[in-house]
Amino acid sequence: MSEVIGGLFTSHVPAIGNAIARGLQDDPYWKPFFDGFHPVHEFLARERPDVAVVFYNDHGLNFFLDKMPTFAIGAAPEYWHEDEGWGIAFDRPVPGHPELSWHIIEEVVASEFDPVTCQSMAIDHAVAVPFELAWPGAEAFPVKLVPIAINTVQHPLPSPRRCFDLGRAVGRALASWHGAEKIVVFGTGGLSHQLEGGRAGHINSDYDRFCLRNLARDPEALLQHDSLDIVELAGSQGVEILNWIAARGALTGSVRELASNYHVPISNTAAATVLLENSATVHA
Ligand code: DHB
Ligand code: FE
Repeated sequence: MSEVIGGLFTSHVPAIGNAIARGLQDDPYWKPFFDGFHPVHEFLARERPDVAVVFYNDHGLNFFLDKMPTFAIGAAPEYWHEDEGWGIAFDRPVPGHPELSWHIIEEVVASEFDPVTCQSMAIDHAVAVPFELAWPGAEAFPVKLVPIAINTVQHPLPSPRRCFDLGRAVGRALASWHGAEKIVVFGTGGLSHQLEGGRAGHINSDYDRFCLRNLARDPEALLQHDSLDIVELAGSQGVEILNWIAARGALTGSVRELASNYHVPISNTAAATVLLENSATVHA
């Protein structure tokens, strides 16, 4: 009887890792962001999930511009953090869950998706920072990881609808999984930000708040903009909201917002944290 208990949606700015490493959680610059994680810690301590399915984007670590899968699913026994060096250092790998990964892969392919399957895969700040935020100071992460990478970097990008439908297919796969695990879904990145070019530093709080307002109760509202619209609205990296959209799609039960936090800026980014509960997806 597996169960999808909910979703954690968070920015993955690498400077957060640096702030964690330096113990700056109560520093005035960082406190409004880190305070948003108290309800997350209570939820995870109460629910104790066994598995995290993480929708994120790879930042040139596994896939560079010369070879860019639209969707890639990890099926490795373990995942090492091999980021470019700033942020937190991991001295242990995150354990994988190859059996569940292959079940998800089988099911999404049966739903007409064509992911790249990765039996070895490294993780970057888009997984490591959210994990450190969720389980601060953990000796070892208490979950097994299934990473699902979405191309938010190299155009053409997948559409929001396609990402949401991928999430739906992953949600169906989790519902048909024979295991007994409690599963938490992560969507990482966003919200609005642009790191380069003439619009570097671009933030659009109106669009961010529109996403935050609708994520739990009407996620299809986020599908009205195509990916290029989102680049225009939220910035060239703000399109990382595609990871959130896919993760929201994977919550197929009745969804309730438990916490939401928005703080501008962290580094160049409008930082946000949302915790959603997903109930009634208990499967015999
Ligand atoms: C920043 C944000 C990101 O999403 C990222 O991947 C790297 C850096 C930033 O705002 O500094
Ligand atoms: Fe990013």
